[in-house]
Amino acid sequence: MALRVSVIGTNYLGAAHAAGMAEFGHEVIGVDIVEERVQTLNAGRSPIFEEGLEPLLTKHTSSGRLRFTTDHREVADWADVHFLCVGTPQSPSGAADLSQVHAAADSLAPHLTRPTLVVGKSTVPVGTAPALQERLRAASPAGDGIDVAWNPEFLREAYAVEDTLRPDRIVLGVQNERAASLLKRCYAMPLSENTPIIECDLATAELIKVAANAFLATKISFINAMAQMCQAAGGDVTLLADAIGHDKRIGRDFLNAGLGFGGGCLPKDIRALAASAQDHGVTVLSDLIGSVEAINAGQRTEIAELAIEQAGGDVTGKRIAVLGAAFKPGTDDTRNSPSLTVAAHLAAHGADVHVYDPQATVDSPGISQDPTVEEALTGAEMVLHLTEWPEFRQLDPEHLATLVKNPLMIDGRLKLHRPQWAKAGWKVVQIGRAATL
Ligand code: UDX
Repeated sequence: MALRVSVIGTNYLGAAHAAGMAEFGHEVIGVDIVEERVQTLNAGRSPIFEEGLEPLLTKHTSSGRLRFTTDHREVADWADVHFLCVGTPQSPSGAADLSQVHAAADSLAPHLTRPTLVVGKSTVPVGTAPALQERLRAASPAGDGIDVAWNPEFLREAYAVEDTLRPDRIVLGVQNERAASLLKRCYAMPLSENTPIIECDLATAELIKVAANAFLATKISFINAMAQMCQAAGGDVTLLADAIGHDKRIGRDFLNAGLGFGGGCLPKDIRALAASAQDHGVTVLSDLIGSVEAINAGQRTEIAELAIEQAGGDVTGKRIAVLGAAFKPGTDDTRNSPSLTVAAHLAAHGADVHVYDPQATVDSPGISQDPTVEEALTGAEMVLHLTEWPEFRQLDPEHLATLVKNPLMIDGRLKLHRPQWAKAGWKVVQIGRAATL
């Protein structure tokens, strides 16, 4: 049976969740403090580039099942369940900044006059949920009638709709049967398709999310450390990843060596976990995450330094083309983009850096953005392949060799077909790939 659902915070996570809840058959109102975003969403448009999101928003804003507002009062007593989807950015100390979670709770609480369930989806440090429940109860006329549950999201940018509609698993951190059954009604559709469900306490639910991200980050840093080993000792990290990935206990996903991880989530979430582990005196975990981060940062420096070395030790005034600016393919998001860290490093050393990206906009001092690959490469003394958009694998190396000043390619993502580029006259440098491949 359809429920009335409010979704508070309608950025990337909230917009996908609101549209997903409407697709699951519920009546949904999204709430956001940014008037412009609310207007865009009410017009059925997506404020972000995310495959499949706009059609879903259009479908459900047109059907009348989904709308957006800036007024928390509208949803307070209307909704059967409130989902908190606000951001938890990184504070200067590395810990999660919970001010948006608190602000959302404070805006909603005074208007809650009947018992209700508030469900956190944002990524938070363990212990946030009970504190939030106390805060809500203290500020609301409904008092102890308010329950908090935690239902973390695992969605990846570029696959946000897919991950929302067909999640790998649903985690319900709940304190009582009433909350569990209400959340199961919210997710009746994916549950009817046998999506695995894990019912647990609040702390476990909070930790599951950060553990998943920390494990993924560890996998990437592990394979990057192995790439260093292959580079030093001889060996090919891609074949190594293929081989160990066939072991079902390991799996091939997240074993792509290269520039490492970036984006708005993974880096900040693991840093927040490290801070929280420190607070709890669990230094084995904060140390482990510290190593993962150090390997990851090292990959960016190594590629930038390699480029400088390949330029004879000095890039001053040299034109360098960079393919890719987004932190990964399929998104226009440049937050903590490994590519842009490398580009900025080269620009800081005096290089004339020209970036091309199919979706992302670059707004970094000293870095130019060109509208086509051809324009970015014209006259370049070196090209760096730093975000592995599929279209870069379709490029014609022979044609591009006629545009550049020097056919030198540093493939920071190990995705280009070296023999094909070599045949067209390019020198291709890939860290951790055997020279004969
Ligand atoms: C991630 C988690 O996957 C998701 O579950 C969570 O909810 C949010 O954080 P996202 O930030 O969209 O999602 O990025 P993801 O696809 O996980 O990639 C993270 C970074 O790792 C990217 O920079 C990507 O290029 C890099 N990566 C990924 C690698 O370097 N190697 C790999 O093998 C895989």
